[in-house]
Amino acid sequence: MKIIFATGNAGKMKEIREILGDMNIPVLSMKEVGIDAKPEETGTTFEENAIIKAKATAELVTEPDVIVMADDSGLEVDYLNKEPGVYSARYMGEDTPYSIKNQNIIDRLEGVEDEKRTARFVAAIAAVLPGGEVVTTLGTIEGKIGYEERGTNGFGYDPIFYLPDMSKSTAQLPPEEKNKISHRGNALRAMRQKIIEKLNIK
Ligand code: IMP
Repeated sequence: MKIIFATGNAGKMKEIREILGDMNIPVLSMKEVGIDAKPEETGTTFEENAIIKAKATAELVTEPDVIVMADDSGLEVDYLNKEPGVYSARYMGEDTPYSIKNQNIIDRLEGVEDEKRTARFVAAIAAVLPGGEVVTTLGTIEGKIGYEERGTNGFGYDPIFYLPDMSKSTAQLPPEEKNKISHRGNALRAMRQKIIEKLNIK
């Protein structure tokens, strides 16, 4: 048995291995097994896009006894009707620097009071099990959009995603601290539990 995760991102793989590692099933990236599925993310929800990626990758796997997983994630800003949502990576163009995307979101919230700046990161994980069954999990982390970029850790929208309880942005947290509470961490921990139950792993 092995798990193939449909990502080429080394940072994600490290977090994935840390969380799924103790199931004693080797976890390999799509890159490590030499496959590369790049389906169009046409879904309207994070789950749909994660399923599209996991299924497209599973179609390229020829070995038996493999669990193929994929994720999809993004930022939902309540005041912006949950934008950028599934378009988080594509917001203002895929190649636009995040300093510009982040400033744009701050500008769109100009004058908006604290209570209305609520936002969340969402991550969906989809897994195609060896028999073909598809299971999904969803993880979230709640926060607020800040008034300026803060912190240099993390990536993407982290510098403007403020955690009121911690008085810090997620870009001000060390990676281990973020992983303990993050949307992706929560979705991965839920998936680990689901796989253990589905495959009867002791
Ligand atoms: P994907 O799931 O790799 O397609 O990523 C979706 C996009 O959502 C990323 O490119 C970021 O813009 C955003 N995003 C997802 N998770 C995070 C996070 O933990 N911090 C900051 N931005 C994130």
